[in-house]
Amino acid sequence: MTEDPRVVWHSHAVDRQQRTQLMGHQGCVLWFTGLSGSGKSTIANATDQLLAQRGVHTFLLDGDNIRHGLCAGPNLLEPEHGTEFAQRFGLGFGAADREENIRRIGCVAQLMASAGLVVLTAFVSPYRRDRDRVRQWVNSHGEDGDFIEVFVDTPLAVCEQRDPKGLYKLARQGEIKNFTGISDPYEPPISPEIHLREHNTQPQALAQSVIEQLMHRQILA
Ligand code: ADX
Repeated sequence: MTEDPRVVWHSHAVDRQQRTQLMGHQGCVLWFTGLSGSGKSTIANATDQLLAQRGVHTFLLDGDNIRHGLCAGPNLLEPEHGTEFAQRFGLGFGAADREENIRRIGCVAQLMASAGLVVLTAFVSPYRRDRDRVRQWVNSHGEDGDFIEVFVDTPLAVCEQRDPKGLYKLARQGEIKNFTGISDPYEPPISPEIHLREHNTQPQALAQSVIEQLMHRQILA
């Protein structure tokens, strides 16, 4: 990283150990990745619910919601901020826009994890390099192992069959450009910490298996 001498990193008076003690668990990032319609949001929500029932302090950052605010597109920004601003800061689905989407979310997730939360994220995050950068960012600002990649490995044919938002149909008709899996790449994780392949299993059961793997990794007691 190139250092800017005008911007200096400060350490906080309340450290990680103190925060872990207050929360009763350490903060971490559970990063769900997979195709649109793979079940990321559903499984992340079910996992969130199980964690909340166990008294774990969590927060879920979900793709479509975040694209209404932090990572809004140009159309949402334009009325209030004007065309130039909207073009500069609004995010779409080209490779550079997805890179910035994931970078912003990665930074927010790291801040929340530093605050002691178990952060769940559900974004397509199709590029390996973008996910690896978040891994590096999160682990280097906390501890190795804070970033847990959860690959929701549902085959494209199944996602397309589900097509919950009708987007695959539109993408096949050429009405949505850069659609992941159809006209844009998805780079699967090479060695995700958690690999969910059982797309025929109920989301609740998959969430339960995520909890068990977190216990196995001693992230949960
Ligand atoms: S990411 O690639 O930048 O991580 P993100 O998870 O925020 O994507 O948003 C993906 C969601 O936006 C999908 O679930 C889908 O509903 C919608 N979407 C709209 N256009 C596209 C597109 N071109 N490719 C993928 N998803 C899209």
